[in-house]
Amino acid sequence: MVDVIPAPGNSYWNEAGYASLDAETKLAARPGTEGVARWLRATVGAATGLPLAEGSGADNSSANSIVLSIEPGLPPEGYRIVVDGYAHRIEGGSAAGVFWGAQTFRQLLGPDAFRRAPVRPDQGWELPLVTIEDSPRFRWRGLMLDVARHFLPKEGVLRYLDLMAAHKLNVFHFHLTDDQGWRVEIKRYPKLTEVGSWRARTKFGHRASPLWEEKPHGGYYTQDDIREIVAYAAERHIAVVPEIDIPGHSQAAIAAYPELGNTDVIDTTTLSVWDNWGISPNVLAPTDNTLRFYEGVFEELLDLFPAGAAEFPAFPAFSTFIHVGGDECLKDQWKRSPTARARIEELGLADEDELQSWFIGHFAKWLSARGRRLIGWDEILEGGLPEGAAVSSWRGYAGGVAAARAGHDVVMCPEQQVYLDHRQAAGEDEPVPIGYVRTLEDVYRFEPVPPELDEERARHVLGAQANVWTEATEDHARVDYQTFPRLAAFAEVAWSRLPAPEARDFAGFERRMAAHYRRLDALGVGYRPPGGPRPWQRRPGVLGRPLDGPPPNR
Ligand code: ACM
Repeated sequence: MVDVIPAPGNSYWNEAGYASLDAETKLAARPGTEGVARWLRATVGAATGLPLAEGSGADNSSANSIVLSIEPGLPPEGYRIVVDGYAHRIEGGSAAGVFWGAQTFRQLLGPDAFRRAPVRPDQGWELPLVTIEDSPRFRWRGLMLDVARHFLPKEGVLRYLDLMAAHKLNVFHFHLTDDQGWRVEIKRYPKLTEVGSWRARTKFGHRASPLWEEKPHGGYYTQDDIREIVAYAAERHIAVVPEIDIPGHSQAAIAAYPELGNTDVIDTTTLSVWDNWGISPNVLAPTDNTLRFYEGVFEELLDLFPAGAAEFPAFPAFSTFIHVGGDECLKDQWKRSPTARARIEELGLADEDELQSWFIGHFAKWLSARGRRLIGWDEILEGGLPEGAAVSSWRGYAGGVAAARAGHDVVMCPEQQVYLDHRQAAGEDEPVPIGYVRTLEDVYRFEPVPPELDEERARHVLGAQANVWTEATEDHARVDYQTFPRLAAFAEVAWSRLPAPEARDFAGFERRMAAHYRRLDALGVGYRPPGGPRPWQRRPGVLGRPLDGPPPNR
């Protein structure tokens, strides 16, 4: 049987043997599956060089056709593939299910189906005579890309959406702003990108490294770029959740508009987009001016990221979510700021934690009044979580457990397990070694639902997400290296119904990965080979921040 990744729920041979696709093979799309047919022609059609001409309903009985259909009896994102000597059927509980079925179908055709053009004129295309029935364990199967620390040009983002789709991941968390850069055009505040989207130089390696990349770094997405990304994602049944990080991680915005900062504490006109790594102490001032400014930002954002762009019947629309960050907001400036003190007193708050909670709560209400939902990093629990808000649990499981117990939805993305910027082996050759050693096997044994949640609370775990921070990954080759192959293991954790972590068959996964590495090769992914980095994937002499021993909060 073909080694499908992520592993499908149920698969069996109908009989020994193969069916083949050729220039006469028709592709028929029943109502609601036209987008999947478009995708199949554009990708599998290009790879095979086969026209996959449009078929009709009558092609169901013709052995040389592919028929796509929605079968409401299947789970919303579930699918069934049947290759049995009649038409090759890809059926799904919704268009999304048919699309995930089409991803498996492409894997059945072999690694060359992942290329962009045929490599041999006489190449045959064979399908095993199998039935596959499959559906995901989790609804939220996410990947976060930090495009703020290092900008990933639009082409790279579209490529990652394709890579996500190939792994049946369906939520793209788009980390658009940080201390080191602002990456989305906001028409009413042009300086956010004129000033905030680039820095004069960049620290090379960890902040303790003496090295600098002495050249400007920057870039941003125009509003049309964003619309293109969102539409491209929607065609692939991926919801895009944009993040504007407030009130911390905001130095790039303050550099562009100094009045957003704590002007009674420091001269914010001297600030520039940060060229170093870490957590900047320069955070937003808790003023009405700041609130109005960000309402303006979010107004444009809601237009760029419409709710429902990736909506499916009977499926939660994750595109209603807007991520507001909320992580690592240092309180030193607020403690010294008379304006912040006055606000705390005026609102009758206990301290700066409650001031942050008030700030986040303002946007939770503002978003909810517009039919949207707020999601933030688990620090938004401190000082009280706003009604309806969801949490990205990154500092371990604890925040997610607390949020789920309080009835809030949670996405599990603990840094100890699924921060893919962390190094993936202990060896000296690992490039810019950051954080803990988290191997392919470690990620394969990641369990999104911690045992302390009972069944009812566990339902609040929407799913899991892998996060890719980019301080030490300056281009797409470095991002590929950190992300792959571990994203394949993560995808199997998020999609497949695997046994408990210690009972998972990692050796079996590794055997199936032999086929998957060939798919990744055909896609041009610069993954970390099982034997370690290739010479050009090393970064000798660039200081990282390796951590040893158990993670701090475990
Ligand atoms: C985070 O890693 N600061 C969410």
